[in-house]
Amino acid sequence: MSELALPMVVPEPGLPSRVTIYEVGARDGLQNEQSLVPTAVKAEFVRRLLAAGLPVVEATSFVHPKWVPQLADAADLMTGLLADLGDRARALPVLVPNERGLDRALELGLRHVAVFASATETFAARNLNRTLATQFEMFEPTITRALAAGMHVRGYVSMCFGDPWEGPVAVDQVVGVGKRLLDLGCAQLSLGDTIGVATAGHVRALVEAFAAAGVDRSRLALHFHDTYGQALTNVHAGLQAGVTTYDASAGGLGGCPYARSATGNLATEDLVWFLDGLGIEHGVDLRTVVDTSTWMAGHLGRPSPSAVVRALAQSPA
Ligand code: HMG
Ligand code: MG
Repeated sequence: MSELALPMVVPEPGLPSRVTIYEVGARDGLQNEQSLVPTAVKAEFVRRLLAAGLPVVEATSFVHPKWVPQLADAADLMTGLLADLGDRARALPVLVPNERGLDRALELGLRHVAVFASATETFAARNLNRTLATQFEMFEPTITRALAAGMHVRGYVSMCFGDPWEGPVAVDQVVGVGKRLLDLGCAQLSLGDTIGVATAGHVRALVEAFAAAGVDRSRLALHFHDTYGQALTNVHAGLQAGVTTYDASAGGLGGCPYARSATGNLATEDLVWFLDGLGIEHGVDLRTVVDTSTWMAGHLGRPSPSAVVRALAQSPA
């Protein structure tokens, strides 16, 4: 019996013809790992993801090392990648919550940073040690200085659909937080379903609410976690609503250390397979990502939760 190693391509009218996959495996994927992954393994992970054709590879976080011990080696990782990849490494996005994080990124000459806001009061306290209101006091000088230095700034909003402490999150509340980040100068907004509770109608409603508030859909990205198996359905809803950037994590690694029940991110391989089936261009080589995730699973000591990785890992190249 011959093995089907690629999906049938049947385009669906009305969907975008091309999307950007924003790879977060080296940051969101690894930040929750309990055992420390050696810096050299992280560097190799980033290099392999770039070699797979992923157009954006978020590399690490310049957060407080006590808050995320796994990423305490952020400066060492980036120093090594800069020596190795030069300008290519300078363009890798890194998370910076505040001016201290920005300073660390500036010292290395990095060009792309991302701030991360919360749509809810409880998560702002738990993840940032701030309130919903005072988180912006941290972001404003950070974004202003980053832009003055010629950097590109992305803004994340977490808990856009539901929050483990507060329950469902009102669409207007998310639009309010997102608009503030855009007004402060973020070029792109990534709307995070941090705990994976989004459903398709909710995704459409949120994107439409941003559009109604005057935000062009081209400035939105969607960031799904697959806790309830809804991530691809939610991507489909996002595509129907005209969003063309999707965050994903190789092998489905991930979770947020400060959000109870935040399990794995949407796996890059699952997203690639899904887009391939629709004939939507993305420029990523599926086999290389699968090999990378299989290699990383070996380092982490457990198999990838991605259905596509499991199906393809053993299949002939
Ligand atoms: P804080 O304790 O309020 O910080 O934490 P502070 O401003 O009061 O400073 C206290 C000390 O920390 C000072 O040192 C600072 O210099 C130092 P001292 O003077 O006492 O010696 N400090 C730092 N050191 C290194 N790097 C820094 C830094 N900032 C301060 N950047 C803070 C506030 C934001 C720093 C802390 O809460 C933090 O680091 N939080 C990060 C939490 C995190 O990384 N969460 C995961 C990422 S978010 C996510 O995963 C969701 C996402 O994927 C989307 C989704 O799924 O929804 C993006
Ligand atoms: Mg996340």
